[in-house]
Amino acid sequence: MATEKALADYDVMSKAFQQEAYGFYEKLQKEAPVYKLPNADVYLISRYDDIKAISLDPATFSNKLSYGMIQGDRWKIYEDEVARRGWGIKRVLNGADLPEHRRVRKYLDSILNARAVEALKPRIQAVTDMLIDQFADRGACEFVSDFALRLPSIIIAEHFGFDPGNIDNFLRWAATISRITNHVLTTEQLLECAEAELEMQHYLHDVMERRKIDPKNDLLTRLVIENSGDTVDDNPLTEQELQNILRDFILGGFGTVVNMLGNSLYLLLRHPDQMEKLRSHPELMPNFIDECLRIETAIQVFPRITTRAVEMHGIHMPQGALIGLCLGGANHDPSKFTCPHAFDIERADARSHITFNFGPHTCPGRLLAKLELQIAFTTILQRLGDIQLAEALPNPHAANWRHRNIERLPITFRPA
Ligand code: HEM
Repeated sequence: MATEKALADYDVMSKAFQQEAYGFYEKLQKEAPVYKLPNADVYLISRYDDIKAISLDPATFSNKLSYGMIQGDRWKIYEDEVARRGWGIKRVLNGADLPEHRRVRKYLDSILNARAVEALKPRIQAVTDMLIDQFADRGACEFVSDFALRLPSIIIAEHFGFDPGNIDNFLRWAATISRITNHVLTTEQLLECAEAELEMQHYLHDVMERRKIDPKNDLLTRLVIENSGDTVDDNPLTEQELQNILRDFILGGFGTVVNMLGNSLYLLLRHPDQMEKLRSHPELMPNFIDECLRIETAIQVFPRITTRAVEMHGIHMPQGALIGLCLGGANHDPSKFTCPHAFDIERADARSHITFNFGPHTCPGRLLAKLELQIAFTTILQRLGDIQLAEALPNPHAANWRHRNIERLPITFRPA
């Protein structure tokens, strides 16, 4: 008889983990709701209510993390290189606490509020149609590179006023730099990430300088002008701070929607009954999007650090402990969702997912992300019939314990 796998036998960094992640979280929720990873100083929190309480208590669970906690002393090599040849890293948004964080979030609220996002609707629809036009007649495409990678990147780039022709660089910078939070890197790999960081900093510096000389009607110009020091704002953001805000948008806004587009289509492909239901009941679209966000959470684990020693469920976490909030696990918590592993586009409480988290750092891009997903899938189902996987994909999720994504999704379809 097969023996049940012990918690310590799971290797969260392995590719195989992607297939067993939800079983692992379920086991954690039952046996070890606060779990210290055996080979790292990281405490995983997996229950929905615990994660929500932690996120609403930023005084105890701070966002002020240093990448040095993951990379150790070698992190200094990266930091020094970026400071020497660029502007250095100063995290003022994701990675900051009050009062710095509040000062910066005020910009985001106007940039991505419901009105601003609603105004993007026609453009999101136009870009969606343009991308589908490029492969609709072929009857086949590779969904990630032909569609998912393009739609959110073009929208974000245009919204800020970046040149959409530079999208491949944004994607490359985001993919390279985010390795710092996902893996323990060698010195050589850290220097590669530093190169990407420096390339991005110099690009951001150049576009901001150009906006000073040649202002345009875009968000970049607004950020530059409002923080030029000649305005009523007596506490303008410095160039280094502006760069780091834009950095968070490039790292946070490009890849996450890409991953959700792939994860959601893969869910439909594995559940043709749900795809048929959605085709015949398009009014279920918003709930379908929430259910996808719940069941295949793009960011599976988000970090925090303790500002004092804390005890939870009988486990002592010292001051300065690195905490991993398992958002993906919490979205499968049976005490919150009935039959949590079932994909049900009519689930009554799908919207209660914790995918964008709660509290002061809750994702500012959530309305935009949902709108992009809704327009994309409404149009895909209208324009492509009989969508099928073009080949079997035995373990399609990338080996990345913090993010859940599919790198390749070849499909066939009938133009509708
Ligand atoms: C489905 C897609 C997305 C998911 C799953 C997602 C998820 C998240 C999560 C979990 C956080 C962290 C919250 C915390 O620390 O408590 C976050 C923060 C953030 N997200 Fe998103 N996000 C998505 C799309 C976007 C988009 C489209 C943008 C930009 C337009 C964006 C920009 C950001 C930024 C700038 C932060 C940092 C906010 C802060 O620290 O105050 N995200 N996101």
